[in-house]
Amino acid sequence: MTIPHQIAGNDHLGPLVEGLTAERTVHNIIKVDHAGEHGAIGIYQGQIVVSRLLNPSLVPALKDLLRHEWEHFRVFDKHARARGVRKCRLFPLWRVGGVVLGVVTALLGKNGIGTCTSAVETVVVEHLKQQILYLRTVDSDLMSDIEAILVEELAHRDMGEEISRPGPFNRFLASAIRGCTETAIWASMRL
Ligand SMILES: [Fe+2]
Ligand SMILES: [Fe+2]
Repeated sequence: MTIPHQIAGNDHLGPLVEGLTAERTVHNIIKVDHAGEHGAIGIYQGQIVVSRLLNPSLVPALKDLLRHEWEHFRVFDKHARARGVRKCRLFPLWRVGGVVLGVVTALLGKNGIGTCTSAVETVVVEHLKQQILYLRTVDSDLMSDIEAILVEELAHRDMGEEISRPGPFNRFLASAIRGCTETAIWASMRL
């Protein structure tokens, strides 16, 4: 797939930590993505539990998303084991936070689920694009795995947008979820 390459200078580092060696940066990328997929698993697990009661028609689609997140998690787990990358110190919190976010947004119904998925995956997509830009000259093996994952995260984001209802509450919720996700990524790159 084609990734936009219009980012210039140090901006291509995006959410990556500046001033680290390439090896540390690659380890950080694996560490944060491993933790992030762990959180995504929590979100969809939480949404599935609640949706079985409130929105059973959404459960098959949510199960597909959960299956993808498990596959993504295994990819980063494989890279982490192969390179001896330690887990993020916030690793357990990602899962707990994901489940809480999934349950709360699913209690808000279809719009809550769609808004959550679209907000989280929007941040994830931007984050993965920055990583791909960085990795293209550093680690093509990891880059191609992330490119494949990006395709699925884009589809998740689009599905979320399709089932969410635009409005002031939706905008407020989306911006709060995006802010929390950005903060969790920022902290996980450093812990
Ligand atoms: Fe994922
Ligand atoms: Fe996803």
